[in-house]
Amino acid sequence: MGADGWCRQRPSLQVRLPANKLTFPCFRFKKRYKLPVADGGVSGLTAPVIHPKQTPAMTENKNQLQKKFTSFTKLATTPAETERIARDFAAGLQPGDVVAFFGDLGSGKTFFIKSLCRALGTVQEATSPSFTIINEYFTPDDLFVYHFDFYRLEDEQELRNLGLDEFFYNDYICLIEWADKILLHLPENRWEVWLQFVPHQPESRNISIFKKTDEENER
Ligand SMILES: Nc1ncnc2c1ncn2[C@@H]1O[C@H](COP(=O)(O)OP(=O)(O)OP(=O)(O)O)[C@@H](O)[C@H]1O
Ligand SMILES: [Mg+2]
Repeated sequence: MGADGWCRQRPSLQVRLPANKLTFPCFRFKKRYKLPVADGGVSGLTAPVIHPKQTPAMTENKNQLQKKFTSFTKLATTPAETERIARDFAAGLQPGDVVAFFGDLGSGKTFFIKSLCRALGTVQEATSPSFTIINEYFTPDDLFVYHFDFYRLEDEQELRNLGLDEFFYNDYICLIEWADKILLHLPENRWEVWLQFVPHQPESRNISIFKKTDEENER
């Protein structure tokens, strides 16, 4: 969008936070689906939703996959194994899910998200939004995926300008790198993916995935 460089047109729509701008015209391009509410969904967010192209069998399958990942830890000894885990995890995600990623620099957060987006079938290849804070991707059937990277987040004002709730409490999938920078702003219902280096094994990562719910936080 425009020569000011704030927003690149699709296919890879990117948004970065200009210090002097408070709104994001890019998001007005969004086509929105009104999604039916599924009974007893497990996405854990305020209104569990199913995507219009999701059949009951697919929902059941997703529920099974979500159960598998409710508490999951595995050693991935190669990037290909990480990719497989990301692919399986993606298959259980629902519109409305928020996934917070934790892990040191270079631990594989972007790698995991790239694999996950590939599995979701996004039109765009996921790339690190380090200089933009948010990337927007979408699938051919209009599932919107927002990829955040808060590594370079400077202050609370920058965060407020983003209007995070608009993303988090919606029918999108939100993938958040450096989620520890916005811990207090994360929805209580969320997935957490933790990636850890393994000493002396440069190609290995310990991957843990948890489902957090507000009931758990109340305990
Ligand atoms: N088992 C593995 N799983 C994931 N990535 C691996 C693995 N083994 C090696 N790698 C490599 O580690 C690198 C991870 O880089 P990546 O950009 O994904 O990290 P990151 O956590 O997003 O870093 P940053 O905090 O800078 O955003 C990639 O080059 C990837 O190929
Ligand atoms: Mg990254």
